[in-house]
Amino acid sequence: MPIKRSFPESSSPSPQEAKEAKKPPLSSQSKEAKKPPLSSQSKEAKKSPLSSQSKEAKKSLLSSQSINQEEAKESHEESIRPSSLDEYIGQKSLKEILKIAITAAQNRDESLDHLLLYGPPGLGKTTLALILASQMGVGCKITAAPALERPRDITGLLINLAPGDLLFIDEIHRLNKVTEELLYPAMEDYRLDITIGKGQGARTRSLSLPKFTLVGATTKIGALTSPLRDRFGLIQRLNYYEVDELTLIVKRTAKLFNTPITETGAVEIAVRSRGTPRIANRLFKRVRDYAQVEEISPISEELASKALDILNIDPKGLDQTDRLVLKTIINQFQGGPVGLDAVAAATGEDTKTIEEVYEPYLLQIGYLNRTPRGRVVTLAAYKHLGL
Ligand code: ADE
Repeated sequence: MPIKRSFPESSSPSPQEAKEAKKPPLSSQSKEAKKPPLSSQSKEAKKSPLSSQSKEAKKSLLSSQSINQEEAKESHEESIRPSSLDEYIGQKSLKEILKIAITAAQNRDESLDHLLLYGPPGLGKTTLALILASQMGVGCKITAAPALERPRDITGLLINLAPGDLLFIDEIHRLNKVTEELLYPAMEDYRLDITIGKGQGARTRSLSLPKFTLVGATTKIGALTSPLRDRFGLIQRLNYYEVDELTLIVKRTAKLFNTPITETGAVEIAVRSRGTPRIANRLFKRVRDYAQVEEISPISEELASKALDILNIDPKGLDQTDRLVLKTIINQFQGGPVGLDAVAAATGEDTKTIEEVYEPYLLQIGYLNRTPRGRVVTLAAYKHLGL
């Protein structure tokens, strides 16, 4: 079964990519996002069975879309994605819940219930959706709310679904009202209510849709409307990964890249990865570059540490902007409490970027507290910064 993206995968708003997050949602995706979702999908890709689909169908899909550099990078990233729940490291309880849901749905010969995945970026929401489709033996279409601007964007996707297919919508909290309201009957009754014509002559038509599974992903569950949230049968949070889990992920990636790495070398990368596999994999690639240039193998703790120091990633995984945020609150606002807007103005960062990219991890590791009167830097952060 095919995997189809109707846009290039959304970039994770990691610190390094924070600037991207400031761009208007479609600016970097416009060309792809405007493509009709299935237009470029080859018939061959549609036919290929899911089991063998992973690499081949993905390749054929990509090649049929004339690969540009972004897509090439993406396909590289996809080559290291785990392709089954057993291969997927971490999120133990979520995996158990999903295994039960898959087995039960398969026994009843039904599609999976709609699933909402939430949590910080880079933890594997897209990967899980692809795995679910693969394990259910169904096709998967991937899109993101900012690409669903006009009613015809979502209707195009929905009417082209095959029975049981999985539709993944990233950043689902950003759906516009019209698109969201089209999804309600689609999710609940597998019905698409479309309006034909305008003004007095407008008529509504109902089209029946095949049973499908909507997998929504969001970093901001609080921004979802309750009618949308309530239509998901399963709502699950992804948590930050433990160091031992990230170590396994780094070792797995190193193996896939044929790059020797010691246990402590992998741990060194893991501890600086902010609990996030996507960051672990990115740091691994940078360390690998350094090892290659220095002609050193295997990647040891010392080498990883040197390479990450050069990248200004400190032993807790904080980068320059994390430290700037903390130091600004300490030096300009006496450690807080201070409002988000004031922190953004003083650091020159965007409020949304601070709130969605930097703060979650600083809150998680207890370096920042959110109080009703604003953000407060904790004693642990002072210690870490040597103040
Ligand atoms: N690569 C990225 N995330 C992963 C995970 N959770 N398990 C295995 N490999 C991964």
